[in-house]
Amino acid sequence: SFRQLSNSLLRRSAYKTPALQGLTPRFFHSSPRNNMKVLAVLYDGHKAAVEEPRLLGTTENKLGIQEWLKEQGHEYIVTSDKEGPDSLFQKHIVDAEVLITTPFHPGYLTADLVEKAKNLKICITAGVGSDHIDLNACVSKGIQVLEVTGSNVVSVAEHVVMSILLLVRNFVPAHEMIERGDWQVSDIARLAFDLEGKVIGTIGAGRIGYRVLQRLVPFDCKELLYYDYAPLPDAAAKAVGARRVEDLKDFVSQCDVVTVNAPLHEGTRGLVNAELLKHFKKGAWLVNTARGAICDKDAVAAALKSGQLSGYSGDVWNVQPAPKDHVWRTMKNPIGGGNGMVPHYSGTTLDAQARYANGAKKILENYFTGKEQNPPDIIIGKTGYETKAYGQRK
Ligand code: NAI
Repeated sequence: SFRQLSNSLLRRSAYKTPALQGLTPRFFHSSPRNNMKVLAVLYDGHKAAVEEPRLLGTTENKLGIQEWLKEQGHEYIVTSDKEGPDSLFQKHIVDAEVLITTPFHPGYLTADLVEKAKNLKICITAGVGSDHIDLNACVSKGIQVLEVTGSNVVSVAEHVVMSILLLVRNFVPAHEMIERGDWQVSDIARLAFDLEGKVIGTIGAGRIGYRVLQRLVPFDCKELLYYDYAPLPDAAAKAVGARRVEDLKDFVSQCDVVTVNAPLHEGTRGLVNAELLKHFKKGAWLVNTARGAICDKDAVAAALKSGQLSGYSGDVWNVQPAPKDHVWRTMKNPIGGGNGMVPHYSGTTLDAQARYANGAKKILENYFTGKEQNPPDIIIGKTGYETKAYGQRK
């Protein structure tokens, strides 16, 4: 393997030969180095981040690693300025060695930028979901991509269950009515149901999807279904009573509620489009906390408007921050409800921030000291994809 080869080269000090000298900095870190340039793209937390230091994922609190990096002599640039060629992100990416981003305020590392990032060796996603990085471009340049796998999967699974409930029970318009000073029970109850007896299905039954299924068990749903090219282990499927459906149209046609819990990649971009929505049960609910671009923006808005969907809820958008006029902010079903959209925060509870800040630090530490990374965190390792979750590859 590449690792065995590189170890044997190291043992024989072969890296000192002229032919391999150019490879030394990228592949071999035998002793900790200082003076690395670490670039982080985070969101501005403003007043909240000053008042609440546990908002670690902000430019103010800098993942809590500023001092630690400084002590080791590394340069640490933190910015929220990420769009366009004059942004600090694009300015500093040209010579940064380490890039830290979060999915919440994604620094989009396009293939163009990968080309310009001549010194980049490792991208760390503080959180889960690295689709904002052109993964194939990173593979071709030998740039590693790691996530803090598992750091916020419970946070998201809880949000999914909440979102399913708020749609099925027609919660949002009910609360808005109360704030308006009105009281008309029938206007709410006409589209309020119980979860008990419904069929719920998840697209993607990985860490989050499975946790959603686990959390739904006590609701006595009619059935729990999943669609995933990776089947659950028998014992896991049995533990939650989940049935796998292998055809996507067949799957959605059986569900009262569909929840999306798969990564965004070539095989999931636009997966829930106008054609697929036709196969949903009339009046189904759709919850997507995975990635906005998995669902076609306009097709979803049209399906909600026509009543083909009774509700759509989630926290992820095709572009983030979402523009003020994004149709998902205000789209409604025919009786004026069914919208449970929020900004991207399901995976960034304070509990989750502690975990992903810690995990990002651990990945950095491993990188600085040349230690092995935790295998589940590796999306792209030194020789390519090490996960099966970002699409089926040969
Ligand atoms: P995971 O890797 O544990 O599970 C993903 C599952 O999706 C795998 O079982 C994989 O086989 C399946 N999958 C991939 N492509 C598929 C396809 N075409 N059709 C059906 N299934 C497919 O990942 P995890 O931890 O469950 O996270 C899933 C995604 O959730 C992340 O990639 C991220 O995009 C999103 N996420 C959102 C957060 C938020 O704050 N809203 C926070 C954390 C994750």
